[in-house]
Amino acid sequence: MERNRQPITANGMTAQAGVSFTRLSAARASADLEQDAIAGFAARPKSLPPKYFYDAEGSMLFEQICATPEYYPTRAEEGLLACYGRDIIGAVWPRVIVELGSGSSQKTRRLFDACEALRLPVLYQPLDVCSEALRRAAGHLADCYPWLQIDALIGDYVADLGMIPPVEGPRLFVFLGGTLGNFTDEEAMDFLSRLRAGMCPDDCLLVGFDRVKDAAVLDAAYNDAGGLTAAFNLNVLKVLNRHLDADFNRDDFRHRAFFSRHKRRIEMHLVARRAQQAHLRRIGLTVDFAAGESILTEISRKFTRDDIDGLLGRAGFAAVRHDETQNGYYSLVLAAPASRSQ
Ligand code: AVJ
Repeated sequence: MERNRQPITANGMTAQAGVSFTRLSAARASADLEQDAIAGFAARPKSLPPKYFYDAEGSMLFEQICATPEYYPTRAEEGLLACYGRDIIGAVWPRVIVELGSGSSQKTRRLFDACEALRLPVLYQPLDVCSEALRRAAGHLADCYPWLQIDALIGDYVADLGMIPPVEGPRLFVFLGGTLGNFTDEEAMDFLSRLRAGMCPDDCLLVGFDRVKDAAVLDAAYNDAGGLTAAFNLNVLKVLNRHLDADFNRDDFRHRAFFSRHKRRIEMHLVARRAQQAHLRRIGLTVDFAAGESILTEISRKFTRDDIDGLLGRAGFAAVRHDETQNGYYSLVLAAPASRSQ
């Protein structure tokens, strides 16, 4: 479809018909990183929240990870969305699709395909920390789905959950990729409960869960032979260098990811290859590393069906549909506020 050159809006974004951008967390982003770095480097093990992976480069690396032969969750989830998208959309009949951590919005297209097939025009509110990813995604979506209204929200789905502009529903909240697994059980409970509290009786939540499986399959997914996951992990050091005026050297750290069956989670670390110091000049912090000491950069929890039902139930949701791949590697769950179905 042909589109005219569009004017640049006041916030520097290219305006397209039916597309708007809103920043939910104006001046907060770098203050967050300062606080999180101070807390994270004081913790044992040292740790950082995974959201800092997703600068422009990190978001691009993640898209490349999704295309590796080892990283099965993206293909599994897209297959489920392609297969059951119409049933899901038909069950909710949403006026709004709100996506938390939308990234490239690539898999979400299967839901727009379903809307198109059902002749259901919707408003799409993708929310992501990465403005570049949002801009690119919105541009492509506007070209492919000219009927789609897009209200892109730049922000953090945890801190800005309460800032999502309310629109007349029903709303379908979408949280894909198994990203709920980045939360500890307490964080997931808190997040889902807050989400649930902001939902109307007709709203639904569609959430992807990566399942417990053979450790070799999981380990491979987070240690791709092409080294993209390693580059993605190490990229967070560049983010620290840029925003905190730090002096991390990527060559002095190595990527490590493994499945802990006991904790039912992947742990991703950056391991110091030798004893060293890093200086985070912007916050006046010097961090000491022993040789072999690591920074925990991400947890990615894997779930059993019982885990999924338990977590959703405790957070006030009831599953409406539970679709899984034939090999049981991945689940896509449509859940409703429990008061409606109990
Ligand atoms: C985007 C959070 C779902 O946990 O599998 C991919 C991120 N980390 N490879 C995941 C990730 C390493 C991914 N999520």
